[in-house]
Amino acid sequence: MFDCMVSQSKGAGQARGVEPAPVSAAGLADALRPFGQSRMLPPAAYVDPAVFAWERRHFFGGGWLCVGHCDQLPSPGDQRAEDTGTGSVLLVRGDDGVLRAFANTCRHRGHELLPCGPTSNAKAIVCPYHAWAYSLRGGLRAAAGFRHQPGFDDADWGLTELPVTEWHGLVFVDGSGQAGPLAAALSELEPIVAPYEPERLVVAGRHQYETSANWKILTENYHECYHCPAIHPELCKVSPPKSGENYTPAGPWVGGWMELRDGMDTMSLDGTSGGVPLRGLDPRRRRTVEYVNVFPNILISAHPDYVMVHRLLPLAADRTLIECTWAFAPEALAQPGFDPGYAVDFWDITNRQDWSACESVQRGLTSPHARPGPLSPDEDGVYQFVTKVARGYQGQPVWDAGAMIKAGQPG
Ligand code: FES
Ligand SMILES: [Fe+2]
Repeated sequence: MFDCMVSQSKGAGQARGVEPAPVSAAGLADALRPFGQSRMLPPAAYVDPAVFAWERRHFFGGGWLCVGHCDQLPSPGDQRAEDTGTGSVLLVRGDDGVLRAFANTCRHRGHELLPCGPTSNAKAIVCPYHAWAYSLRGGLRAAAGFRHQPGFDDADWGLTELPVTEWHGLVFVDGSGQAGPLAAALSELEPIVAPYEPERLVVAGRHQYETSANWKILTENYHECYHCPAIHPELCKVSPPKSGENYTPAGPWVGGWMELRDGMDTMSLDGTSGGVPLRGLDPRRRRTVEYVNVFPNILISAHPDYVMVHRLLPLAADRTLIECTWAFAPEALAQPGFDPGYAVDFWDITNRQDWSACESVQRGLTSPHARPGPLSPDEDGVYQFVTKVARGYQGQPVWDAGAMIKAGQPG
């Protein structure tokens, strides 16, 4: 698999406060009460465009954000633009093999350098408007008519570089430039994800879903299986809904694991695997599925034989685009007749059951009679996520690992 080289993070790594979100302080205090006594976030957190705008600035644009997979830009000259909370970012693989990220705005008059979408390849970054040309490292190389302009120096007009880093095959960009090292914030998560070697795996299935639900409703749904007996008959056949536990991390992530039923090898409609077990997994990991959410937009579901990743791209308070990928070991893909459908089909059914429930929650929360409800003992993962969001709304940067540890986390 491609070895993803990245440019140096330029983050200052210092704690900083942000403006509080336009959410009722009393509602946040209720959400932050001890587990068992707390309430969900106020409905405005899910339906109010002002809250959504704040989230885009501070949750999606104010720290590390996953903007895709490393193998979407495998070759020198590869370029793609991805939406972030604060404008879009241009990802570029340099001729030195290094992945860099730039604010996707031309230094001339601001035209986007590339529209968000598929990867393209070129020897330079050329603005489509007046054809200013930049090197793959972001320096200005050509600006028609400016060569003899007094005082114009190319060195002053390079692209604005943003911190970018690769973590287990995923590309993260810090739109704020101030979030501090990603690896340090995810240090507790490292030993949970590393054995699966996601960076070695090959994406063999990719779906896109557009849902009419707030991104947090989708994430909260991910963190509990309290709903599984009611809406997931296929899942309950292979994994007991009350199995497993949640971690209690201090960093910007929430997660836990569930077990496979006896005789079931993986999450598929009949519990059999069409792939091969991932190398290096201990006996416990061969019988469990890890479910991890890296704040704010990535859900990593690590199975004994494949890793599924959901990337959430919020479009509006009530609309979220979801990119879902399934990655397998290269040796599984090398098997004659390998078909990723055993995993893709199972989760496609389960995903759609989830999106349907989440869209109904979204509609329900628009009722003038909607009030924040309580959490069951099985919804401790939801509590962890909600309290991270609530503290973020109060102005605490979610990606400030030091502050997270000081604040203490629910047990
Ligand atoms: S805005 Fe890019 S060249 Fe003019
Ligand atoms: Fe579900």
